[in-house]
Amino acid sequence: MIDKKSSRYTRLEKQIAELFLKTRDMDARMATINAVLYHKMDGFFWVGFYLLKEGHLMVGPYQGPLACLELEKDKGVCWAGIRKDQTIVVPDVHQFPGHIACDSRSKSEIVVPVKNRENKVIGVLDIDSNLLSNFDNTDAVHLENIVGKLFD
Ligand code: SME
Repeated sequence: MIDKKSSRYTRLEKQIAELFLKTRDMDARMATINAVLYHKMDGFFWVGFYLLKEGHLMVGPYQGPLACLELEKDKGVCWAGIRKDQTIVVPDVHQFPGHIACDSRSKSEIVVPVKNRENKVIGVLDIDSNLLSNFDNTDAVHLENIVGKLFD
């Protein structure tokens, strides 16, 4: 049986794919992903990208409360996603060693690596929730699919 969250993601994936037909511009595409997810998914409190720039992890397009501009090297969930080159689901951010709290209302988090056409990690999609355990494997699968469309 397909649950409510999966079917919502499927609808949003279709919407994002249609919107992406209009441009291949990366900033426009990242901003579009943020707007769709932030406004249509439950408990998505902060949605945005952190991008590698000369070894620094800098905030890119996002929706939600003010976030950290740069993330301290090799600390926190975003850097872990980059180092491991894999999606990281954090049910309770307070249990994640080194978690960087940009906003104290954030309780759970998911980080999905963004790869370019050469399969090189260039940053992450980071989503915070004000709810505990808001992310699971369904989010991981669908968000990886959405991020994969950036370079289609
Ligand atoms: N919590 C992240 C930092 C970015 S904010 O969540 C927007 C981390 O630990 O890398």
